[in-house]
Amino acid sequence: MEKDFLTLSSLSREEFIALLDLADDLKKNPKKYSNALQGKTLLMIFEKPSLRTRISFETGMTQLGGHGIYYDLSTSPLGKQKESISDTATTASRYVDIIMARLFSHQHIEEMAKHSRVPVINALTDYSHPCQILADFQAIREAKGKLAGLKLAYLGDGNNNVTHSLIFGAALCGMDIAVASPKGTDYEPQKEVMKKAHDIIKKYGSKSKLILTNEPSEAVKNADIVCTDSWMSYHIPESEKEDRVKKFMPFQVNEKIMKLAKKDAVFIHCLPATRGMEVTANIIDGAQSIVFDEAENRLHTQKALMLKLLKVK
Ligand code: CP
Ligand code: NVA
Repeated sequence: MEKDFLTLSSLSREEFIALLDLADDLKKNPKKYSNALQGKTLLMIFEKPSLRTRISFETGMTQLGGHGIYYDLSTSPLGKQKESISDTATTASRYVDIIMARLFSHQHIEEMAKHSRVPVINALTDYSHPCQILADFQAIREAKGKLAGLKLAYLGDGNNNVTHSLIFGAALCGMDIAVASPKGTDYEPQKEVMKKAHDIIKKYGSKSKLILTNEPSEAVKNADIVCTDSWMSYHIPESEKEDRVKKFMPFQVNEKIMKLAKKDAVFIHCLPATRGMEVTANIIDGAQSIVFDEAENRLHTQKALMLKLLKVK
């Protein structure tokens, strides 16, 4: 594996599957790993809010015998623009063994990784959210027994960190993915992501189909997994809300849409969710939803990730 984990597209198919396999073992046999990171410290840098990421990383480190430090950028010299990213990363990496950061700009996390001696994990940027997809794919494999050959339908904001990482994940493991979003570059997945995903498919000679559409019913037809995400990601200004709600409402995941997917389709969402917006309450709280398995799996997959990056496994 590369030194850092900034995007799923940096993993090989074998590395991706090995991470999920290790996460399954960590879930089944947590005690086996309770001293694996004894004496190690994880620095957790946050420029945006979080429930799951913060708690799962810190708990994960504790369960592996290590220690996690929560560091809110609004209280740091970097947050006040007084200290550069390179000085921050160079300094911090002389103290700690591994760093995770949730930042606005993807370029900033790349810069952080460049100047850090120790592995850096992307815990969400505006561009991608690779840790989330590890958890999602573990949950999907638990529910469906496989990944290759399934079809995942994503409805809503396509120009979105979670969407981008799902596209890489699907390409890596031979899954079809159909993204239905409003027309226009503001809402569709970024071209560079599509190109990278097609390169991954070519590299593995896989049969993954990547479908972009503006028609939700086309995307969900025959889907094994239906997914959506917030229309108001952390980086979207509140002033855009009214316009976005109007544009995204036809892409809401509701009963009518779920009926078009396969009968045994599961519903996933990275959370936080707004019921009545991107998904209705009867779907997210209904029998097809596996959203809390996904949330739980953040813990297991990130423990696996830290063990691999620190070369303990
Ligand atoms: N899914 C996710 O990353 O949640 P948080 O924003 O609560 O960390
Ligand atoms: N797309 C969402 C994901 C939250 C975990 C956001 O960036 O806010």
